[in-house]
Amino acid sequence: MKRGVVLLPLVVALFFVLARALPAGSGPDWGVLNPAQKDASFVGDRSVCANCHPQYVESYGETLHARVFPHRGGADCESCHGPAGKHVAEPSREHIFSFKDRSVRPEKKNGVCLSCHEKGIRMHWKGSSHDVANLTCNSCHYVMEKRSPRGLFVNEDSKKACFQCHKERRAQLQRSSHMPLREGLMDCAACHNPHGGPGPSLLKTASVNETCYQCHAEKRGPLLWEHPPARENCANCHDPHGSNYESLLKIRPPFLCQSCHSVQFHPSNIYEGSKIVGGGGSVAQQLVGKACLNCHTQVHGSNHPSGPRFQR
Ligand code: HEC
Ligand code: HEC
Ligand code: HEC
Ligand code: HEC
Ligand code: HEC
Ligand code: HEC
Ligand code: HEC
Ligand code: HEC
Ligand code: HEC
Ligand code: HEC
Repeated sequence: MKRGVVLLPLVVALFFVLARALPAGSGPDWGVLNPAQKDASFVGDRSVCANCHPQYVESYGETLHARVFPHRGGADCESCHGPAGKHVAEPSREHIFSFKDRSVRPEKKNGVCLSCHEKGIRMHWKGSSHDVANLTCNSCHYVMEKRSPRGLFVNEDSKKACFQCHKERRAQLQRSSHMPLREGLMDCAACHNPHGGPGPSLLKTASVNETCYQCHAEKRGPLLWEHPPARENCANCHDPHGSNYESLLKIRPPFLCQSCHSVQFHPSNIYEGSKIVGGGGSVAQQLVGKACLNCHTQVHGSNHPSGPRFQR
């Protein structure tokens, strides 16, 4: 046990020594990514590129990569485009790794970025829905210019990156009940990890409920009287992306409740003969206003000793 305590700092120290000693351009095997770049040398100076690509060198200069790469061995532009010695001698598209080349498979392009970024929140990228759908890192990120305050997104706001493809979600956010995404206080990444997650639907956490509890901790309980659908999945009743019903509900009560609860077993039996909206008949007490919630106020569960029916 003591040996572990001594070894750990040594291993950590060794890691840092090795990490710093990495030669310029280490990472991907450029000869495999683009055979025409095999044996090419690194130029290591972006001012050389500026002779022919001035506008890219300028816009790239504003990005975090441009600020950190020079301190990491000097590969700079070539950290992503590969050794450019041959390219500078014989300028063409051939001797350089191009992310715009459609004949290069997405895994190869992503492999360049992942050679430095495979840890942390990208741990689940491989096999995620976005990986399987052949998205590239560049579907959401644009690294040649700083367009967003952080995160190098394709546009100024990460949500807009998502709306390129998920147009129906943008429409949903316009509905009257929504979490404050529209207002800029939250983004899709509050709940989703677009790089892949441990659970369903690219969520950040292992389940829908764990995701919600991050901010709605009071719903976690423990509760004396649980309402099973709430414990099982908040999305049984809520659509987190927006709804035209109050409180992001998928359906309006009483219909929401009646999608599971049979009318027949309710003790007060006043559903009989009732018509709902505009039917002209008498409207049952359960169906007006807050409907069932007039009496069953604690629909997420109750901690009151006499709350098994969620009335208190
Ligand atoms: C002497 C001029 C010259 C220099 C210096 C030069 N390039 Fe190029 N570069 C070109 C030309 C010409 C092309 C081909 C453009 C085309 O076909 O549209 C090109 C293409 C590229 C492409 C591919 C663009 C695409 O459309 O796919 C990249 C990436 C690139 N260069 C990066 C660099 C980097 C990084 C450097 C510095 C290490 C550099 N270049 C230095 C002239 C140059
Ligand atoms: C962090 C990785 C990365 C670095 C560093 C980087 N690039 Fe790029 N570059 C890309 C990607 C990705 C694209 C494709 C952008 C897109 O269109 O989505 C690209 C596109 C380009 C293009 C092609 C544009 C076109 O019209 O086809 C040129 C030229 C280029 N980069 C030059 C440079 C130069 C010069 C530098 C250094 C000043 C540099 N890049 C640094 C990743 C990088
Ligand atoms: C040579 C290693 C390397 C490569 C290759 C690389 N990055 Fe980075 N990237 C870094 C470092 C270092 C940072 C600085 C932050 C950090 O330490 O994580 C960074 C930061 C970022 C950030 C955060 C920027 C910000 O302003 O918040 C994004 C997004 C990013 N990289 C995306 C990419 C993408 C996409 C690619 C491939 C086109 C790529 N990176 C290629 C090393 C790399
Ligand atoms: C579907 C869109 C999308 C794709 C595809 C995508 N990203 Fe991201 N990326 C994001 C969003 C959104 C964030 C902000 C996450 C957050 O705020 O928690 C982000 C953040 C990042 C960051 C900075 C934050 C951090 O903590 O590291 C890096 C680096 C990064 N992505 C790299 C990549 C790489 C590498 C790929 C390709 C393997 C990739 N991304 C693919 C949307 C995407
Ligand atoms: C380039 C297009 C594109 C972009 C940009 C994009 N997605 Fe996707 N997304 C897809 C495709 C394709 C799928 C898989 C097919 C489907 O379920 O529609 C998908 C699936 C998903 C899923 C469902 C995953 C599952 O396993 O059920 C979620 C959640 C998601 N995307 C969130 C996001 C978020 C958040 C962003 C922005 C950070 C984003 N997407 C950006 C194309 C995109
Ligand atoms: C408050 C948390 C939350 C936020 C914020 C959020 N989502 Fe979701 N998203 C979820 C949950 C939970 C699911 C799974 C829903 C289910 O199982 O019914 C989901 C599912 C999805 C799906 C897959 C839907 C399907 O039908 O398979 C897509 C695509 C998606 N979200 C995109 C987005 C986009 C784009 C944004 C940003 C505009 C966003 N989400 C913001 C929680 C959220
Ligand atoms: C990143 C934090 C965050 C996460 C994660 C989150 N929420 Fe929210 N939620 C909020 C905020 C902030 C509000 C607005 C609170 C307010 O206006 O008082 C809100 C409001 C709501 C409302 C009330 C909406 C209304 O119109 O009154 C519901 C319902 C809700 N969230 C359900 C969920 C569900 C279900 C999940 C999981 C899928 C979830 N939330 C995940 C932050 C979050
Ligand atoms: C059985 C259906 C149902 C389930 C499942 C459900 N809710 Fe609700 N939720 C409602 C109803 C109905 C309201 C409106 C309550 C009202 O108006 O008094 C509501 C309101 C809310 C609100 C806003 C008001 C408040 O109480 O703070 C939040 C936040 C919320 N729910 C979060 C969640 C979370 C998180 C989950 C999962 C743990 C969840 N809900 C599961 C039915 C449900
Ligand atoms: C997704 C299905 C589902 C929805 C929607 C739903 N419930 Fe339930 N509810 C259940 C289940 C399952 C039980 C547990 C029944 C049991 O233990 O016999 C339950 C229990 C209850 C109980 C306690 C009854 C008892 O027998 O212990 C009440 C009261 C209740 N629900 C009211 C509501 C109200 C009000 C709504 C609408 C806001 C609602 N439910 C929506 C599935 C649902
Ligand atoms: C006027 C108040 C009131 C309204 C409105 C109301 N309930 Fe009830 N409900 C009660 C009372 C009181 C009980 C408890 C009866 C008992 O303990 O014997 C109850 C019991 C229940 C039970 C448990 C039944 C059982 O067999 O044990 C369910 C499920 C339920 N209500 C669902 C609903 C649904 C769904 C709605 C809306 C359509 C609704 N309630 C509207 C007062 C109400």
